[in-house]
Amino acid sequence: MPVTLIVGCQWGDEGKAKIVDLLAEKADLVVRYAGGANAGHTVVADGRRFAFHLVPSGILYPHVTCILGGGMVIDPVALASEIESVVEKGVDVAGRILVSEQAHVVFPYHMEMDRGAERRLGSSPIGTTGKGITPAYTDKVSRTGVRMGDLLKPRREVIELFTDKIQENNRTLKRLGLTPVPVKRTVEVLERAAAKIAPLITDTRVVLWSALDNGKTVLGEGAQGSLLDIDHGTYPYVTSSSASVGGAIAGAGIPASSIERVIGIFKAYCTRVGNGPFPTEEKGAVGRKLREIGGEYGTTTGRPRRCGWFDGVAGRTVVRLNGITEIALTKLDVLDTFDKIKICRGYRCGKRELEYFPTVLKQVERCRPQYEVLDGWRSNAGGGGGGALPRNAVAYIERLEAVVGCRVGIVSIGPDRRAVLER
Ligand code: IMP
Repeated sequence: MPVTLIVGCQWGDEGKAKIVDLLAEKADLVVRYAGGANAGHTVVADGRRFAFHLVPSGILYPHVTCILGGGMVIDPVALASEIESVVEKGVDVAGRILVSEQAHVVFPYHMEMDRGAERRLGSSPIGTTGKGITPAYTDKVSRTGVRMGDLLKPRREVIELFTDKIQENNRTLKRLGLTPVPVKRTVEVLERAAAKIAPLITDTRVVLWSALDNGKTVLGEGAQGSLLDIDHGTYPYVTSSSASVGGAIAGAGIPASSIERVIGIFKAYCTRVGNGPFPTEEKGAVGRKLREIGGEYGTTTGRPRRCGWFDGVAGRTVVRLNGITEIALTKLDVLDTFDKIKICRGYRCGKRELEYFPTVLKQVERCRPQYEVLDGWRSNAGGGGGGALPRNAVAYIERLEAVVGCRVGIVSIGPDRRAVLER
């Protein structure tokens, strides 16, 4: 059975979890392929709100097995506590969470280094989530990282490994004027968490491949968004993983030829948390209105998100980059009360009109968005009756499809898992 990938197409926070939750009902396996606890995936199911950071959003369906894939970086303490809190909410996870041996471990010293690096950038930090993501990926590419598979060693060796790593990195922290991590206490806490997680750690590629061989339905769950991708995002204002489609292949080991559908998740407008270019940002009343109605505050950090109009240039670029076969458009209802709604269809950069999002930051800064203004629908997007959208909402979606060059197949019109329309 072929794989469906869910890919964030903006700067994260597009509402991926809701669409994963929707599609997971018919899936057997959900594989998260990138990032770490920097992600915040919110699902509202039967009036209950779940915020996931590491565990794939498919966990709410009892028939689904969830894999934390090889491209991820995982804080064992955060994972153990997230699993505990899901169980406390009455979800039976027994045998349904598997962790890749290849995923890398995030240590408390990574978080301290993350905070230190931000402080060193002074008045123009990246605005990271502080979850140690970049230092953990740095260790991975430097070939000095610890992988989840290492936690399967005998207890004594695991304790030794943790102690060595912490002592070694404490020396770096001191050199950088940062606060060293208390060795004994940290090793104890980490070892306890590692012991809880150890039974879940396996070669998840084999589980995935065998599921594919047996005709199972597999869903790949992305984290963050393509504009935060380490290669294709607004570098250096990006995260340190491959948040676009390549991450699923490289990270989780999903065979490229098994991917049949790539569902791109776009919010009906744009948001960004953290610093970096955002050409269609609205810093005044429009931005504030989008933030308040859309509840645009970070799930992981609580930070207010920057808000603006839908960026068709970025959208068109990301559709091409990921080979998006269909779009899921989320939070359309947030635009219900707007008289006029803008779509950016192009960028003017000096005398040139650009079709695609530039890769050079300086050029992005010079771009002026070219807008089209559409009439709002001034009514409840979900209230058209018989599952129909208001006429102007349909016109907005059709224009957006034309600008980015891809069909919108799913429209989300409210936080609950049932508030969706399929087109
Ligand atoms: P890091 O991933 O914590 O290193 O943060 C790097 C950049 O990515 C910052 O601008 C963060 O705000 C942003 N970021 C990381 N994860 C997410 C996410 O899940 N949603 C939105 N932005 C994110």
